[in-house]
Amino acid sequence: MITQEIEKAVQILRNGGLVAFPTETVYGLGADACNEAALQKVFKAKNRPAQHPLIVHIARFEQVTDWALEIPPQAIKLADAFWPGPLTLIFKKKPEVSTIVTGGQASIGLRIPKHEIAQRLLQAFNSGIAAPSANQFTRVSPTHSEAVLEELGDQVDYLLEGGRCELGLESTIIDMSGSKPTLLRPGGIHKQAIEDVLGARLLQPTTMTPRAPGMHLLHYAPRTITHLLSYQALTEQVNKLKAQDLPAILLTRSPLSPNKLSTIKQINMPTQAKAYARELYHTLRSADKEGYKCILIEDVPDGVEWDAIRDRLHKASCRR
Ligand code: TXA
Ligand code: MG
Repeated sequence: MITQEIEKAVQILRNGGLVAFPTETVYGLGADACNEAALQKVFKAKNRPAQHPLIVHIARFEQVTDWALEIPPQAIKLADAFWPGPLTLIFKKKPEVSTIVTGGQASIGLRIPKHEIAQRLLQAFNSGIAAPSANQFTRVSPTHSEAVLEELGDQVDYLLEGGRCELGLESTIIDMSGSKPTLLRPGGIHKQAIEDVLGARLLQPTTMTPRAPGMHLLHYAPRTITHLLSYQALTEQVNKLKAQDLPAILLTRSPLSPNKLSTIKQINMPTQAKAYARELYHTLRSADKEGYKCILIEDVPDGVEWDAIRDRLHKASCRR
């Protein structure tokens, strides 16, 4: 059955339609990366500003040269180590690559995903599929198919069902287009693993780095007001909640003294980073749906395996 579904999805992409599909990170909203009208539909469906570039997904390494002007030796090392997988590499783009997909920039983001359905789709399509996360601009990425439909409804022409995404957070993005590899977004592969392969430290983005993802503050955010707090501050805050903050939901990793208030729900988040990442967006989305007035989240540890989670929590809680 899946073969027929893939064939249908390919047909829709070839006709300029939008296909949502699962990857190991989050669901993507796919369009033919060579079809400018289809790319425009992606920006419109997401309400995404035109200067925010899309990642082009490909099936295999040989396709990199269809999009990238040059492949630095360090990028080959990263591709060997982490592709297919949750890593996006930014290259200088070839002149013929549409500036619609690159948001007007001279660089192009490429990723080879690992998920079986994504792989089969890309192999059958045999060209690049531009796919941002399948959510409204600034909102939480979908990690299951129902969430895609909640976010985009009938703007999606076809959806490939793939169950829950294994990782639950987006890919790591490394800019390979400058003189030194730069970490633009922490994600599915942590910084230390990448530095070990490079044998060098990654640069951190500066305000001069062109359009590093989520540089404007609110991003990856639930609709409900969200606060990120240390354990101590969180316990204090719980006692100070006012009527307008209730019902509230707490996402904690440490046990809190049981609260007797029925208007405060406590979710025990996993203590391991991988399991926490898999649950996070799903939990935030449920909190939005269940109508809580505020979300209080206990801060996460310092280790590199928590970097992507910490980044998303900061962005989700950074507003107004
Ligand atoms: O895991 C993922 O990366 C998912 C799945 C679907 O592959 N995709 C995803 O796409 O998260 P999106 O569009 O939601 O986030 C991609 C980020 C954007 O913030 C964009 O600014 C950045 O990648 N990006 C893409 N191309 C870029 C480029 N040429 N230069 C700098 N940043 C780029
Ligand atoms: Mg996104």
